[in-house]
Amino acid sequence: MKKIKRIGILTGGGDCPGLNAAIRGIGKSALYHNGIEVIGIRDGYQGLVENRVQHLGLDELSGILTRGGTILGTNNKCSPKKYYEGKDESGASIYSNAVDRCMATVEEHCIDVLFVIGGDGTFTCTKPLVEAGLRCIGIPKTIDNDIHGTDLTIGFTTALRIGTMALDRLHSTGDSHHRVMVCELMGRNAGWLTLASGLASGSDVILIPEIPFDLDKVCEFVESRRNDQSGFSIIACAEGAHPIGEEQVVSMHIENSPDPIRLGGIGGNVARIIEDRTGIESRTTTLGHIQRGGEPAATDRVVATTFATAAFELAMRGQFNTMVALCDGHMEAKNILDAAGKQRLVPKDHRFIRAARAVRTCFGD
Ligand code: F6P
Repeated sequence: MKKIKRIGILTGGGDCPGLNAAIRGIGKSALYHNGIEVIGIRDGYQGLVENRVQHLGLDELSGILTRGGTILGTNNKCSPKKYYEGKDESGASIYSNAVDRCMATVEEHCIDVLFVIGGDGTFTCTKPLVEAGLRCIGIPKTIDNDIHGTDLTIGFTTALRIGTMALDRLHSTGDSHHRVMVCELMGRNAGWLTLASGLASGSDVILIPEIPFDLDKVCEFVESRRNDQSGFSIIACAEGAHPIGEEQVVSMHIENSPDPIRLGGIGGNVARIIEDRTGIESRTTTLGHIQRGGEPAATDRVVATTFATAAFELAMRGQFNTMVALCDGHMEAKNILDAAGKQRLVPKDHRFIRAARAVRTCFGD
């Protein structure tokens, strides 16, 4: 096997807390123990197509463990296979296959292995590059925790902490004003973040995409609380949750993005309908990108450093085109292409759901 002399690191998809910890983990493993040079690719695949790279030495890798976001920049719109070139005279978008340009960047900078820190979209984009001969190692990240093949992703536990804190704080106003407080959380089509935040904060109602809900049942439940006891209810609502038989609420379409749909707005709809039907004053808080921002929690620093250093070991053992994964408490190497384009959703009988139901949480079903 050809000796690894230089590696590349790329962060793709949405940013999340813990990306810099992962960059540091890979980079320092390479520099300290093996004398391997490290190159950072700017702005995800965009930088690989456009040949924008930066040197990563100990200076660049120091002091970033606790920083949110990614020092390399990222992008959740660029696909090497369908690269957006701009618009033609009629205003139509022009796309090209930029796989060769990516491979030219890899060759020009003598990148022997590319470390790709991303989610299912990023890993899907990796496929044509692997087919063109790229050697890569994947590291799973996303606050959504929805990557196929791993129980945990970088960013999830920090977002969980933020979601829980927000829901905890909504209790005061709900209690004081006897209101229904709806909090909309991110997560795309997966309910992990909302479910875990709802469970941790003792939310009264949890609405997730995997369990379509009946608004009559939700109204009945919040009314029973008004009659029974405290009179207020906290609802943790995932952006992808939807009533039975209805579509998800789309907040915007992003042209040129491999996944063009952005969800959002269901929380406001739920609050409005509850107020109309029950007469209970209702309010909505949408957490949005606050869930992705700021410094990583201690757990994410540990997860990111563990994943990153394990990923580096995989490269040193020649186990290319794999993704590090945490499965039942053990680190494993999965085929990166198996994680591509799939989502890990919450099983309806998951222990978190059973636990929530046991303490009388309503799922609206
Ligand atoms: O995948 C992470 C995520 O934050 C989702 O939870 C959310 O639906 C989406 O990204 C938002 O994307 P953007 O940053 O493009 O608005």
